[in-house]
Amino acid sequence: MKKRTLLLAIFIFAAFVFLAVGALTALDVPDVIMIENHGYKVDRKGPVKFHHKKHSADYGDACTECHHVYKDGKNVWKEGDPVKKCSSCHDPNKKVGKVLKLRDAYHRDCKGCHRKHKDKKAPYRKCNNCH
Ligand code: HEC
Ligand code: HEC
Ligand code: HEC
Ligand code: HEC
Repeated sequence: MKKRTLLLAIFIFAAFVFLAVGALTALDVPDVIMIENHGYKVDRKGPVKFHHKKHSADYGDACTECHHVYKDGKNVWKEGDPVKKCSSCHDPNKKVGKVLKLRDAYHRDCKGCHRKHKDKKAPYRKCNNCH
C-alpha cells in the first residue's frame, strides 16, 4: 500500500469511530419529545409533550431518574449509554413480573416526581396539563 493510501485509510477509519461514538452519546437528544406510543388496547388520552432538555438542564433531574437498565436489581445505565424506548421493555397492555405496564411506568415516573414538587409547576393531578 502506498503511504498516502494508508493515511487515507487511517483517516476514514478514525472518522467512522468518531461518528459511531457520537451517535451513542446524548449530543443529539431532542429538546422536546412527543411521547406517543401505539399498541394500547384503548388509546383514551392524547399524546404528551415532554420538555426533555428542560428537565435535565433546568429542573436538575439526573438522567438516571428516568433511564435505567436493571441488572441484578440494580440500575447499571449511565450517561452516554444508548437509550431504548420505554415501550421496548414495558408492555402497553400488561404487567410482566415486576415490569409495570407502559402507562403505569410513565405515570409512576412522571407523576411520582411531580408529587414531590407540588410547590412548582409540575402537573400532578390535572390530566390535561400533560395530555
Ligand atoms: C405528569 C404527566 C401526566 C399526567 C399528569 C397524566 N398523565 Fe397519563 N400519561 C402520561 C404519559 C407520558 C403517558 C404515555 C403516553 C403514550 O405512551 O402515548 C400517559 C399515558 C396515559 C394513558 C395510556 C395511553 C392512552 O392514551 O390511553 C392513559 C389512559 C392516561 N395516561 C390517563 C391519564 C389520566 C386519566 C390522567 C389524569 C388523572 C393522566 N393520565 C395524567 C403522562 C401523564
Ligand atoms: C424526567 C425524565 C427524563 C430525564 C431526567 C432524562 N430523560 Fe432522556 N428520555 C426521557 C423520555 C420519557 C424519553 C422518551 C423515551 C420513550 O418515551 O420511549 C427519553 C429519551 C431519551 C433519548 C432517546 C431520544 C430519541 O430520539 O430516541 C436519549 C438518548 C436520552 N433520553 C438521554 C438522556 C440523557 C443523557 C439524560 C440526562 C442528561 C436524560 N435523557 C434525562 C426521560 C428523561
Ligand atoms: C431495558 C429495559 C427497560 C427500559 C428501556 C425501561 N425500563 Fe422501566 N423497568 C425495567 C425493569 C426490568 C423494571 C423492574 C425493575 C425491578 O423492580 O427489578 C423497571 C421498572 C420501572 C419502574 C418502577 C421502578 C423504578 O425504577 O422507578 C418505572 C417507574 C419505570 N420502569 C419506568 C420507565 C420509563 C418511564 C422508561 C422510559 C423512559 C423505562 N422505564 C424504560 C425495564 C426497562
Ligand atoms: C425527577 C423529577 C421529574 C420527573 C421524573 C419528571 N418531571 Fe416533569 N417536572 C419536574 C419539575 C420539578 C417540574 C416543574 C419545573 C418548574 O416549573 O420549576 C416539571 C414540570 C413539568 C411540566 C410543565 C412544565 C414544562 O416543562 O412543560 C410538564 C408538562 C412535565 N413536567 C412533564 C413530565 C413528563 C411527561 C414526565 C415523564 C416522562 C416528567 N415530567 C417527569 C420534575 C420531574
